[in-house]
Amino acid sequence: MRRNPLVAVAAAVAVLLVAVAALVGWAAGHYTSNSTTVTVAGTPAATTSAAVDPTVAAGAHVFVQFACAQCHGENGRGGVSPHVPALTGVGKALTVAQLAHIIDHGLGESANPTEPYMPVWGAVISKRQVAELVAYIRAGLPNVAGATPPAVPQNQGLAVAGGALYVRDGCINCHGPNGLGGVPNPLSPDKTIPPLSGADFRSEFNTDKKITDVIRSGSVIGRSPIVSMPHWGGILSDYQLRALVAYLKTLK
Ligand code: HEC
Ligand code: HEC
Repeated sequence: MRRNPLVAVAAAVAVLLVAVAALVGWAAGHYTSNSTTVTVAGTPAATTSAAVDPTVAAGAHVFVQFACAQCHGENGRGGVSPHVPALTGVGKALTVAQLAHIIDHGLGESANPTEPYMPVWGAVISKRQVAELVAYIRAGLPNVAGATPPAVPQNQGLAVAGGALYVRDGCINCHGPNGLGGVPNPLSPDKTIPPLSGADFRSEFNTDKKITDVIRSGSVIGRSPIVSMPHWGGILSDYQLRALVAYLKTLK
């Protein structure tokens, strides 16, 4: 009797499958047992894997991208400045429309350079992103895997730290990558948010102090829908300000 070659192949495949299954099982067990013994410091969000509504998840990422967390604290828990409220209760207290209005138009915009105010975001953040932010706030600002601000490298020089802070603090959303500017601000005198690089910027902001002062004090150039420069005094430390200045001076 001749053996059917297909049977032999099938048998070989079956053996292979058992081996692969065993390997996968071993690997899963291996990594699971590892992850129970290794604690990843400071990233509780990354360890949460429960399914999150996609709109809420997107909102968590937008919250990080636009540096809401730098003023309102991680997951909107507050604790950064006495002038900036936590956002944990506001999802229940305010309607969708009220929350969207605050994000678009800002709140309590103040000419007092020592106090931060809620910036006007309407010209910078899309309608869809605002809806996602509102969904995230109304869901109670849960942990979402991967929605954590970029780390700031330590002991690698001020300019390196400043480059990370430029993203972490959301400067990049308004002033563009490499400080190239170009983000529209139609009702402002310049019609655009200014660049932080190039000859004009260099000649106007020709000392570290001038740059630090304007970051700290911000600049209210008009009411909503005009986007103004947020006040970062009381939010950013002196070290962070120096790092941002060092980074800006590396730009073309
Ligand atoms: C530069 C700091 C700063 C940043 C960045 C910032 N906020 Fe605010 N925000 C404030 C301040 C200050 C207030 C309080 C304003 C007031 O009550 O006068 C506020 C108020 C709010 C409120 C109303 C809270 C309440 O209890 O009434 C909401 C909602 C809010 N911010 C959402 C956001 C979101 C979403 C982002 C990111 C897109 C963001 N904020 C970014 C400073 C900031
Ligand atoms: C919400 C948008 C927004 C964000 C976020 C923002 N800025 Fe600005 N920034 C502006 C606007 C608008 C001006 C122009 C103010 C004026 O003309 O008085 C400005 C002006 C400046 C200036 C002075 C430049 C000039 O020509 O007037 C510096 C320096 C600056 N920003 C640095 C920063 C840094 C550093 C960050 C991050 C920590 C930051 N900005 C975040 C909107 C923003």
